[in-house]
Amino acid sequence: MKNQLGTHHPAPEKAVESEIPLERRVLKGAFEAILLHAEKINEGANGVIAHVDLSKLPAEIRNYLVGKIEIPNENAIKILKFYSEGAGKREYEAQLVAYEALKNETQAAQAPCPYLYRDISVDSEELREKLSEKMGVSCPKVEIIIMEYIQGVDLATHFFREIVRRDHRFSDKKSQAATLTFQELEQLVPGRLGFDQPGQKGKSLAEKAVEKERVFNNNAELLYSELRKCGFTLESGLIKKLESGLNILHANGIYHRDLHLRNVMIDERGEVYIIDFGTAHISEKDSGEPYPDFSDKSYLEDESLIDLLKSFEAVGLENLPENLTRNIDVSELDDQIQLQISQLKKVLSSANVPITAVKINSFLNNMTAVMGKRVDSKSKACILWAISQWKDLGGEKAVRDYLEEYYPNISDIQETLSEQIYKILSPSG
Ligand SMILES: Nc1ncnc2c1ncn2[C@@H]1O[C@H](COP(=O)(O)OP(=O)(O)OP(=O)(O)O)[C@@H](O)[C@H]1O
Ligand SMILES: [Mg+2]
Repeated sequence: MKNQLGTHHPAPEKAVESEIPLERRVLKGAFEAILLHAEKINEGANGVIAHVDLSKLPAEIRNYLVGKIEIPNENAIKILKFYSEGAGKREYEAQLVAYEALKNETQAAQAPCPYLYRDISVDSEELREKLSEKMGVSCPKVEIIIMEYIQGVDLATHFFREIVRRDHRFSDKKSQAATLTFQELEQLVPGRLGFDQPGQKGKSLAEKAVEKERVFNNNAELLYSELRKCGFTLESGLIKKLESGLNILHANGIYHRDLHLRNVMIDERGEVYIIDFGTAHISEKDSGEPYPDFSDKSYLEDESLIDLLKSFEAVGLENLPENLTRNIDVSELDDQIQLQISQLKKVLSSANVPITAVKINSFLNNMTAVMGKRVDSKSKACILWAISQWKDLGGEKAVRDYLEEYYPNISDIQETLSEQIYKILSPSG
């Protein structure tokens, strides 16, 4: 399904290359040269992703490419695994529209710049061998998309690596976590977490498929809950960027429809990328009809991933005012504390129960028990600030009450809570 963009698209155009025989031959050689030097780095259900650095090609090939293909040196190449004429072109075009919509936004996710697509018939023995042996693609024709290489990880890989880093059941693999590939992680993690094998039960194929999906979902939930137990959180800036990126795409009539953890990448600079537009739909602007094909349940609703990510969001702490953060490095706050705060908030929100001074006090005492040591004064100020931001739960009043009740004489606790938090939260402040 994913590789076919659905019935709403026009019939695929004839490949442009057939129109200019001589140029076609020259270009074909250039693309072959690139593919022969590309190295497989990743794989999804529909495509193989390879990396190529044109500056590392032999000089004769570099010279040969000059003037024929104008792209940066470092590239990712997506080779579609199953040939379905025109699918690569549509994916390229959807990605280009998305890239254009997002490229000038500094606070939103980006799409990798797609440079070009090509429909290539695999004629030479050398190329045929390379594709089938090194990439696992054996078709007489392939479509490729050459695009910006993203130096980062997709979120599924990130989630798996974090469980390996944090969970004691992987202590022998912990030091290798950063280099394990998605395929290796997929082999390693489910077994050790005790996941069920999907697709075992059910009589008919349809029943098996339903069972498979159920097991997949249960396994995913199990992974998420193990991650939460280990104190794994996501920076809220990352989620905000993804959310703004999606809003911008939707405002431009672009619906991704296959937005899962594997289709979002993050890099070390905190950039977020939406990738894989193979199932995207572009609707007429202002048609007022989002998800035109949404009756087809096999598409994912874009927002559902945001909901999942928000359940891992580090709550409140990143919103500390500058005068408070000057003394507190929020990133150094214990993960366990962050987790406990976010859980407290979740429990109160779902029960729709306000926070009170007494609850804050028992929370802080309980934290001492959880941590096995007293919560230090800077962390305490930080926790109080975070709670004071819970507007819907009456956080500010509760923190004021707490300070009044438990610290009647603020000068006694100057080293416990910074003067700033007193100023902000004291009744006279
Ligand atoms: N431009 C890129 N730069 C670096 N890595 C990439 C790039 N594009 C994709 N990847 C990696 O390759 C993986 C597979 O790519 P992609 O999602 O495009 O393939 P797919 O087969 O269409 O996926 P799906 O299984 O979602 O259908 C991604 O999850 C990501 O880890
Ligand atoms: Mg994908």
